[in-house]
Amino acid sequence: MALINETIKKQSELVTLLKKENIYTYSLEVGSACENHITVNGKECINFISNNYLGFSTHPAVLEAVSTALQKYGLGIGGSPLACGTTEIHYRLMNRIASVYGQESCVLYASGYQAMLGSVQTALGKGDVAVLDALVHRSILDGVILSGCDTRMWLHNDIEDLGSLLDRLKKKYRRMLIMVDSVYSMDGDWANLPELYRLKKEHGALIMIDEAHSLGVLGKTGRGLPEHFDMPNAPDIISGTFSKFAGAIGGFVAGPYEFIDYMKHTASPYVFSASLSPLICAGVLKSFDLLDEEPEWRQRLWENIKFFLSGLAGLGFDTGPSKTAVVPLIIRDTIKTMLFNRKIFEMGVYASPIVHPAVPPAESRIRLGVMATHTREDLEKTLDVFAKVGKDLGII
Ligand SMILES: Cc1ncc(COP(=O)(O)O)c(C=O)c1O
Repeated sequence: MALINETIKKQSELVTLLKKENIYTYSLEVGSACENHITVNGKECINFISNNYLGFSTHPAVLEAVSTALQKYGLGIGGSPLACGTTEIHYRLMNRIASVYGQESCVLYASGYQAMLGSVQTALGKGDVAVLDALVHRSILDGVILSGCDTRMWLHNDIEDLGSLLDRLKKKYRRMLIMVDSVYSMDGDWANLPELYRLKKEHGALIMIDEAHSLGVLGKTGRGLPEHFDMPNAPDIISGTFSKFAGAIGGFVAGPYEFIDYMKHTASPYVFSASLSPLICAGVLKSFDLLDEEPEWRQRLWENIKFFLSGLAGLGFDTGPSKTAVVPLIIRDTIKTMLFNRKIFEMGVYASPIVHPAVPPAESRIRLGVMATHTREDLEKTLDVFAKVGKDLGII
């Protein structure tokens, strides 16, 4: 039996071809911290590839908190959460997140991906249905597989479509969980929480939100989508990650005490995986402090988002429905997308090409992450580079 089948061969040939043509820009070697400028393959670039929106991963106060925790705990805690993996600092972080979201309880995961798997697996099972926005993150889809529930999708952000779907489903299923990304990871628009809540009440459903790209960004104090709409009690379950707002790693789920407690004893991505390092907990706790103590980072992020989005629109780029730090440059052609990314890299801007199978070929795009630490000069230079490359490739 051959391990390398036709599918694997085809993929390998494609990557070899892209590398030969010098348009392959995935996983280039990064040689610096994730700041507004980043060194890639030895070249300094303006960083548009990260989700480190607030720039907290290198904030001096965060580094100090991590180094204090390092002295106390060492590199990691060497066990799963139910064994020796729940330190005093893990408890402090769980309590902090529960209070940030006004929820009874919280649990930490080693990654945001695992947090999504654990949420869906715990909330749903056979006889239940996951009701998903068509653009939810892959981690939610994988959680559905793990849970064994049925799944139905509605058109992205189309409340009418969701309403009629729930109306049909409620006759058949004992439990319906509406799942959305607070901010969509490829389009940068956000979920309509007030309308979701109205439908939840009307049809007797539950709501889970994925706060990955929303925490630290939306809301007057950065407490995400529920704060943005002033609806702290609208979601039943809130999942999220530390890989965006803190530029780190790790995830969480917040919700009612009994639900979280049950999850802590049964969710396989929690029980059968090592605990988040206390170093990360220390850095993330400090990042939560910074949300309150240094709101200027969020203000700068929003100034940058507005300046950058209007600059791109002025040049004639299609940025889809984006309203946040996630900015897609929709090119709609796989090869042009790869070429665009290579050319901007040569001119000192590093970003991420998103092509099939991550999106359909007609939705090919460059994904850009705006940072609070981008200077006006960074943004202006990037717009100049995009204008030149966009015109050369006939995109604008
Ligand atoms: C919307 C969304 N949810 C969940 C995740 C998974 O989080 P993590 O990368 O922290 O594991 C991501 C990461 O890309 C994401 O964009």
